[in-house]
Amino acid sequence: MKIFLDTADLEELRTAARWGVLDGVTTNPTLFAKAAGGSYESVLAEICTLTPGPVSAEVVAENADGMVAQGRAFSKIAPNIVVKIPMSEQGLEAIARLRAEGIRTNCTLVFSTNQGLLAAKAGAVLVSPFVGRLDDISEDGMTVVRQLVEVFVTHEIRAEVLAASMRHPLHATQAALAGAHIVTLPFKVLQQMVHHPLTDSGIVQFRADWEKAQRARGAA
Ligand code: G3P
Repeated sequence: MKIFLDTADLEELRTAARWGVLDGVTTNPTLFAKAAGGSYESVLAEICTLTPGPVSAEVVAENADGMVAQGRAFSKIAPNIVVKIPMSEQGLEAIARLRAEGIRTNCTLVFSTNQGLLAAKAGAVLVSPFVGRLDDISEDGMTVVRQLVEVFVTHEIRAEVLAASMRHPLHATQAALAGAHIVTLPFKVLQQMVHHPLTDSGIVQFRADWEKAQRARGAA
């Protein structure tokens, strides 16, 4: 399973890249609004230098013509840009038109297996079910991930399932077990995955024992 970061924060992305675990990036208007200054295009260009993996850039136009125009412009920023298009009637049309031009898309705001199936059929290479937002309304978001993986395998659909709206480390584990091709994580969740209290206390204990041994040998 590939790990993407769900952020437009360059420092977070640089850190994950240094850790050797950054396979790609997803952004959206909300994440861009939280990031430091510069235009969306300039932030995307910088992000594309930090990873050769896919970098999702989300359109905000309301109709297919506008989405296609924005998608074309994003695709010129760097070869690894993937245009993120919301699931909708206009969105499906934009996905199909961009696919015809050879521009890769990520269909976002997917909340049902049928939506994901249609997105893949229209030509999206990435399909993004939002797990946490379904959990928020007392539905099991991971069910959509599991079903999409099964449907894509059964029908030999080449699109990848990108588990999004991940809120905690257990979501990452569950997405991996469900067979998601990709999980996109807030940096905080990635950090939480690194740590375990027994690892952290073990490191402290080993260091203390090492220093004790050094002192004992020095005294001898
Ligand atoms: O890529 C966006 C998606 O991951 C949204 O997450 O936490 O805002 O539901 P969240």
